[in-house]
Amino acid sequence: MKSEKIPQNLPRHIAFIMDGNGRWAKKRFLPRKAGHREGVKAMRKIVDACFSLDIPYVSLYAFSTENKNRSEEEVRSLFSLIEEYFTKFMGEMLEKGIRITVMGDVSYFPENLRNTISEAIEKSRECTHGTLNIALNYGARDEILRAVNAAVEAGQKVSAEEFARLLYTADIPDPDLIVRTGGESRLSNFMLYQSAYSEFFFSEVLWPDFNKKHLYEILNDYALRERRFGKVKS
Ligand code: IPE
Ligand code: IPE
Ligand code: MG
Repeated sequence: MKSEKIPQNLPRHIAFIMDGNGRWAKKRFLPRKAGHREGVKAMRKIVDACFSLDIPYVSLYAFSTENKNRSEEEVRSLFSLIEEYFTKFMGEMLEKGIRITVMGDVSYFPENLRNTISEAIEKSRECTHGTLNIALNYGARDEILRAVNAAVEAGQKVSAEEFARLLYTADIPDPDLIVRTGGESRLSNFMLYQSAYSEFFFSEVLWPDFNKKHLYEILNDYALRERRFGKVKS
């Protein structure tokens, strides 16, 4: 079966814009929080599937700088789910040798959550099987402005390589493939600089329904794409 074919020519870095939790809940007359909770379950399975395929870098867009403008109740429920995710799955990640990195301005988060995040980053620093990069209070414009200001403060012009090192993704390669679920065809302020030559896949599936079969279909589609990077096929 096509979907079960083990994908070849895998991306080195896959990123997910995990969208559609709210609509998943709404369809079931459930509160948005229930959608986010189900979204965490999907996230865990998809992360597992990616690392089982030996994809070395996986990024997740979990909370954008603009998501802060949602209701206080929703923001609080997202904080508590993020905290729960880190607490529950950290051991599992460590056992698998997964390094956790976080991109975004976490200074905005409550202290207990900040501590949990720092602990996860610290404990997994030496892990080498894969990198799970989670975007928390992340916005690409914010990231770019920070990098520009850091360069200005240093008082020196920077090369493209030096600029890339000023981004949150300093030691992470650009995403080869960005997958957005939930039916919207936009980036919503995600990795604007890093996605210059990324492949995109927009899926109608709502994130809580997104499973390994969908992932394999997308990876099989990606494997057939021809990436030219501005050159002519030889
Ligand atoms: C994505 O799902 C999760 C976050 C943005 C935190 P949404 O909450 O945006 O779900 P929809 O788009 O309302 O369905
Ligand atoms: C993007 O989804 C952010 C995350 C998935 C964390 P949004 O639901 O916030 O994006 P918009 O508002 O539809 O562009
Ligand atoms: Mg959304």
